[in-house]
Amino acid sequence: MAGSKRIGVLTSGGDCAGLNAVIRAVVLRAINTYGWQVIGVKQGTLGLLSRPPAHVELSLTDFTGPVLRTGGTILETTTRGDPFAFPMPDGSVADRSEEVIAGYRELDLDALVVLGGDGSFRIMRRLAEQGGIDLVGIPKTIDNDLSKTENAIGFVTAVNVATEALDRLQPTAASHSRLMILEVMGRDAGHIALASGLAGGADVILIPEIPYRLETIAAKIEALRKKEGRNFALMVVAEGVKTETGEAVTVTDTDAEGKPRYGGIGTYLGGRLPALTGADTRVTTLGHVQRGGVPSATDRILGSAFGVRAVDLVAEGRFGRMVVWQNRRVVDVPIEDAIATHRRVDVDGDLVKTARGLGVCFGDE
Ligand code: F6P
Repeated sequence: MAGSKRIGVLTSGGDCAGLNAVIRAVVLRAINTYGWQVIGVKQGTLGLLSRPPAHVELSLTDFTGPVLRTGGTILETTTRGDPFAFPMPDGSVADRSEEVIAGYRELDLDALVVLGGDGSFRIMRRLAEQGGIDLVGIPKTIDNDLSKTENAIGFVTAVNVATEALDRLQPTAASHSRLMILEVMGRDAGHIALASGLAGGADVILIPEIPYRLETIAAKIEALRKKEGRNFALMVVAEGVKTETGEAVTVTDTDAEGKPRYGGIGTYLGGRLPALTGADTRVTTLGHVQRGGVPSATDRILGSAFGVRAVDLVAEGRFGRMVVWQNRRVVDVPIEDAIATHRRVDVDGDLVKTARGLGVCFGDE
């Protein structure tokens, strides 16, 4: 046994399905195997800014019910309030990092297990360095754009949701002879669009990694009519796809990092394709539906494996590491390596090749 410890667990950044499976695994491993105490920090770093720090002691009985099966995070989370540039009520921005570190100290924690994406880990690493916090990371993001892990928590559930949306759109598309455009999330990566487009039998998949031309898409729809006698078409577009002239389509407000929030490329395309195709066209923007709901079996399994391994890293005193999934194994890498680059869709990879092999149009040839 690795001594008596009191460890914290915290969810940070956008939520996704599978977070509760990870929290459960952290608690079960820490208590059952090591006999430690586990403190859940509420609302990410905001919980460490509150006085007293917002927290809850987690016990085995918290997980006897349906928690494993639920979306969201029982600890709540936030995408706002970077402690190094915290937005104050008077409109100014303050460095409140020392307060967060003081909150961590007040909880008397020996280590902190954080579930986050790249934005969260950029902040958490700085905090850990500044405050001497022993940190272990677990990757979660529906965008699946962290470079060192084949899968992040939440991705597969999001793909399943988008696939189900295509399953639901196909019959109504066929009934009304329509072109259905489904806009999915993913920020600057097309992983959700590509995977769900493949699984859901899309005819056209647009991803940020592959430039497209509207005429090419129109030609594909015409070919479906002529060659297959098809009266409908399904198209998936990733939110990060730009207009033909290269402008990002965004909503008015910005995200936590001050970057514009994507949204609207489906509507943009839906406004232009009818003139070129003659197709009655409808647009569905899936939005946050992709983040909620019952976590897939894969996200529960991966979440369980990540949670157990993260606690073992604490026991081994191996900090500043992130647990990742590589070649069907849970391994760990330095957090800085895991967030150094974004993993985008490999345009020469097997999934793109498979789609092309099926005749899927990416709008480029
Ligand atoms: O990073 C996850 C994600 O769901 C993106 O796919 C999406 O662009 C963004 O977060 C939405 O953020 P918010 O929840 O702040 O609207």
